[in-house]
Amino acid sequence: MRNAALAVLDSKQWVKGSRGKAFGLAFADHCGALSATPCQNGSSALWAALRIANIGPGDEVIVPSYTFISTATCILLVGATPVFVDVEPDYFCLDVNAVQNAITPATKGVIGVHLYGHPYDPKIVEICEINGLVLIEDAAQAHGASQSFEDGSKKAAGSMGDIACFSFYPSKNMAVGGEGGMLTTINDAYGAKLNGIINHGRSPELHAMELGSNMRMSEVAAAIGLEQLKHLDRWVERRRHTASRYTTALQNQPYLKAPATRPGAEHAWHQYCVRTEHAAAFKTHLDALQIDARQYYSLPIHQQGVFANHPQHHQTLPVTAELGSCLVAIPIMHELTEAEITRVLAALVSFNPE
Ligand SMILES: Cc1ncc(COP(=O)(O)O)c(C=O)c1O
Repeated sequence: MRNAALAVLDSKQWVKGSRGKAFGLAFADHCGALSATPCQNGSSALWAALRIANIGPGDEVIVPSYTFISTATCILLVGATPVFVDVEPDYFCLDVNAVQNAITPATKGVIGVHLYGHPYDPKIVEICEINGLVLIEDAAQAHGASQSFEDGSKKAAGSMGDIACFSFYPSKNMAVGGEGGMLTTINDAYGAKLNGIINHGRSPELHAMELGSNMRMSEVAAAIGLEQLKHLDRWVERRRHTASRYTTALQNQPYLKAPATRPGAEHAWHQYCVRTEHAAAFKTHLDALQIDARQYYSLPIHQQGVFANHPQHHQTLPVTAELGSCLVAIPIMHELTEAEITRVLAALVSFNPE
C-alpha cells in the first residue's frame, strides 16, 4: 500500500488517472458486474445510485430500518420517500413478505442491505423483477459475499441488484487508506451513466447533461484499493474460518446464540453478531477481558430525529426493535491473531450472567 501510494504521489497524477480506471475494472471483475466506478464513499454511492435510477420526488423506496443511517437518508437527499420495513430475525436482512406488502403504485425501488456481510434473500431480486422495481444493493458491508440462486447461478454482492454501492471505510472488509466507495452495475444503461454521475453529470465533452457532482476517488486511494483487492478473498476466508470457530464454541453455550447463515449464502462476516438476552452483562464480561464488543443500530432509523416527520416515526417494527437490543458484535477482522481468537473463544465459553 505504501509503495503504491508513493508511486502515485511521485507521478503527480493525483486525480483522474489510470489507477481509478484500473480499480473500477478490477472490482467489477471481482464481483461479476458489468462495470464499476470508484467514488468518494458508500453514502455518496447510494445517492448516485438513486439519481442514476431516476428516483426522486413522488417516488417511494422500500428500505430496512435496521441498518446504517445513510441507507435511508440517501432517499431523502433525492427528494423521494423511504418506506421502512422489518427484517428477518435470523439473517437480519429485508423480510421478503414485508417488502411484498409495502409495494404501492408509487414504489419505484428497493434498497436491500447485505447486513453484516450476509446477502439478502434472493427472492428480493425476483420481487423487484416481477414488479418492475429498481433494486439497489447496499453492499457497504459485503465485499466478498455471494449467494446461490434457484436457477443454480451464484451471484456475488455487487451483482445481485441493478446498481450496488460499496464502502471502503477503514473498518470494512477492504479499505483504501481513507474514505472511499464503489458503484457497480449489471445493467448496460446504468453502466453508461456511472462515470458521468461522479463527474458533475458531464458527458466526455464536459457538457453537464444531468445533475451530478464531484464524487471522484483520489488516485492514491484507488492505488491502495487495488492492492487491498488482491488480498480480499484471503481476508474473507480468514473471517469465515474465525466465524466457524466461534459458532462451534457457541454450540453448548446456553446464554449466547451464534448467527445463522441462509442456505446457499456465502457470508462475508463483516460483523459476527451474537444473540443474547443478556447483552449488557455480556458486554461487561467482554469489557473486563478487554475484548471490544459493540451493539449496532440500537435505535431504529425511522425513530431517529431526522425522521421525526416521517409517517412511520412512531411505528414499531418488532424484529428491528428486538435486534437492536439483543445482538452484540464481537471481533472478527482478518487481522486477529491466533492468540486473540483464543481469548475471544475463552470469553464466549466462560460467559455466565447468573
Ligand atoms: C450498510 C451501510 N451502508 C452505507 C454505508 C455508508 O458508507 P460510507 O461510510 O463509506 O459513507 C455504510 C458505512 O458504514 C454501511 O455500513
